[in-house]
Amino acid sequence: MQELPLSEQVFAQIRGLMHESIGLDLAPHKRTLVSARLGPRIQRLGLRDFDAYLHRVCSDSGGGEFQMMVDLLTTHETYFFREPRHFDVMEAELSERRPASLRVWSAASSFGDEAYSLAMLLSELAARRVIGREWSVLGTDISERVLRSAIEGVYPADRLRHVSEERLKRHCLQGHGESEGLVAMRPDLKARVSFGQANLCHSVQGVGLFDVVFLRNVLIYFDGPTKTEVVERVLAQLKPGGLFFIGSAEGRVPCAASLVPITPGAFRKA
Ligand SMILES: C[S@@+](CC[C@H](N)C(=O)[O-])C[C@H]1O[C@@H](n2cnc3c(N)ncnc32)[C@H](O)[C@@H]1O
Repeated sequence: MQELPLSEQVFAQIRGLMHESIGLDLAPHKRTLVSARLGPRIQRLGLRDFDAYLHRVCSDSGGGEFQMMVDLLTTHETYFFREPRHFDVMEAELSERRPASLRVWSAASSFGDEAYSLAMLLSELAARRVIGREWSVLGTDISERVLRSAIEGVYPADRLRHVSEERLKRHCLQGHGESEGLVAMRPDLKARVSFGQANLCHSVQGVGLFDVVFLRNVLIYFDGPTKTEVVERVLAQLKPGGLFFIGSAEGRVPCAASLVPITPGAFRKA
């Protein structure tokens, strides 16, 4: 297939649209990446060029093509128990506090790996009576496609490579026959986890208040001012004393709220 040329001008329009709508910071050197990710979609739709595609995205009243564009330009990489130290910190903190009830938010949940990992740990803590029986996890993301997959709760086994045999037995169902190589979350675990769409660049008050928030590996896609706004907005939904996690490679937390560092990427709200 022939590569479609992406002019500076249309690239600037795409950058503007993505920044304004979802905070995505597409630096000038990302022009080739944008072209490689959107080009095949434009050809599949039988459109002439990027200009025609942008017109399609903006005139599609249902927003379906806009969602597709968001999906193609964002990164959804995730896996179960990513950065295990954060789960250890959460367990240690909860073991000291022994809360009767607990609400946890995976604020850029992608395919749901993080939300279900949290649920596995909380289910075990509840069984050991470290936390009370009233606990739940909410996963939110901007992408409808990843949310649909998260609700299904079925994964290629490789994504659970960091999950112990014991946990796999306890919380998952192994596929056989045609489903060989796939792993499904057990219904009792799924019942504790819900998913919904939320754009971190808009108001998120509707999600309510949480005791623990995971906001990991999403801030890297925003520019400085957007990062600060997103962190402030998300922290407003965290109860005082609540636990807050970002990816440990994501650097300093850009916010005015007072956070007490616990380990890299893990904080307690003062
Ligand atoms: C790399 S994944 C992170 C998944 C998980 N938190 C982890 O650390 O493994 C980043 C996710 O952020 C989502 N995202 C990007 N911009 C967003 C926004 N403005 N609001 C909500 N989610 C967003 C993407 O759709 C993607 O699924």
